Amino acid sequence: MDIRDTGGRDTNWCKPSPTAARNDIMTASPASKPSDGLFYPPHAKPLTGKESFVQSTYKFLKNPLEGFGPLAYAQPIVSLKTFWYRTHVVSDPVGMLQVLGTESAKFQKAPIDGRILGPATKEGLLSVGGDQWKTQRRAVAPIFAKRHMADLAPMIADVLRDFKAKIGEGGSVELNAAMADVTFDVLAKTLLGDPSGMDRERLKTATRKVVTSAGTLRPDDLLPMPRWMPRPIPPSGSRALKALKAAADDLLDSRVDDTDARDLVGLLVSATDPHTGRALSRRERRDNLIGFFIAGHETTALTLTWALYLAGMHGATFARLRDEVDAVRPDGDISYDDMAVLPFTRAVIDETMRLFPPAPILNRECIEPTTLYGRDIAPNDVVILNNYIMHRTDRLWGNPLAFDPDRFLRDPSLRNKGAPFMPFGAGPRICVGMAFAIMEAVMGLATLVRDYDIDISADCYPRPLMTVTLRPEGGIKAKLTARAR
Ligand code: HEM
Repeated sequence: MDIRDTGGRDTNWCKPSPTAARNDIMTASPASKPSDGLFYPPHAKPLTGKESFVQSTYKFLKNPLEGFGPLAYAQPIVSLKTFWYRTHVVSDPVGMLQVLGTESAKFQKAPIDGRILGPATKEGLLSVGGDQWKTQRRAVAPIFAKRHMADLAPMIADVLRDFKAKIGEGGSVELNAAMADVTFDVLAKTLLGDPSGMDRERLKTATRKVVTSAGTLRPDDLLPMPRWMPRPIPPSGSRALKALKAAADDLLDSRVDDTDARDLVGLLVSATDPHTGRALSRRERRDNLIGFFIAGHETTALTLTWALYLAGMHGATFARLRDEVDAVRPDGDISYDDMAVLPFTRAVIDETMRLFPPAPILNRECIEPTTLYGRDIAPNDVVILNNYIMHRTDRLWGNPLAFDPDRFLRDPSLRNKGAPFMPFGAGPRICVGMAFAIMEAVMGLATLVRDYDIDISADCYPRPLMTVTLRPEGGIKAKLTARAR
């Protein structure tokens, strides 16, 4: 994808810089890790910079994370002309903050987002822009207000308890599927007002099917298509979408007179924009409900999946996590207040999201001319905000490919605005569920490492694969065994 950089123009290709090659590492197997006591998890193999345009496009289409080469790691911005529009790949906090923050009004979500998310949640917060976005954001933000977090924590603990009851003394699980189950149940309990078992199962099955079929990136999505062109969806995906919409409509209809805004459904039903007094339309309510499921369960599930993988593969991390949790809460539910005294657990979650950002790439389309790093950005140009590369380049990090949670303890400012760590995006559209997701991930990891031994085969080394979110290719099989006490 970046074998040539137009330098913001359409001619004058430049060569990779000499430092670029240092990043060109693929830790092909666990055996290849250096002997510094750290774990070097799988890394999506970058291009070498020597591929032809066809070869690099092919790799990009198969796994976008493997479609960027040395230049994207070595430079804050790489520009190229793809088809009839220009694309700028940004992997640096200054540009990210400009596009997502200070100049967010000059950009909108790129057409690819609409193609993938549109069929499920076209009128929801994830997809809309302008005043419609402002109304919806103001309407739903209160559910995630900091003061609500302490009320939501016991509900997360309930779901974790149910999960433990289901696993019992232990068993083999595929971590991603198991964690997706947990995070879906958390959303159902906290945001939906705990619908009946049947309604919950109906929503869960339909959401999972949509996420794994219609909501998954396909090579043809990366081709430049006009916004108006519908995206072909296979019949199974269409059926799943229909089922999901029907389940969401039924749930909202069952609460239509319930204006108690104690959960997301109540909020959506009763929400009016405090500035304009406008209520959300029926379609907006449904698309938001679906959007929250899509945005909120797979992302957190993947954070937990990769965190358990990293802890399971690195015994020293696992032991430190367990010691920390034992010292704070040796048994029973992890509480909201416990979170403040689990700094290593939080550091493991952050380091997991650095290495495996669940949303590895964000896309924007320019709607008003500007400049980025001195380069002209024109309307219709696409900007690829590449978190995966920003989080793994040695331009910005020491030993970037190592799993080293202590880096967040040594330097807590890595979580500040302006640091090259943005798993939740930035600016006005920063993830609305961020505080909730962090709480859920910390509680989940703390509970599971305290109560289970995790056994993962030493040769389990899954390729990071981008399918909108960043999944472990083929999943991760793990044996969970209840801890002997
Ligand atoms: C580890 C977990 C999560 C990660 C890494 C994550 C990441 C992100 C990112 C990067 C964005 C910005 C997208 C963009 O600017 O294009 C975003 C937006 C969003 N997220 Fe999350 N998210 C997570 C969990 C959640 C949860 C738990 C919820 C809700 C329950 C949620 C709901 C949303 C919504 C509704 C938006 C759109 C916000 C807007 O456009 O105003 N996310 N998320």
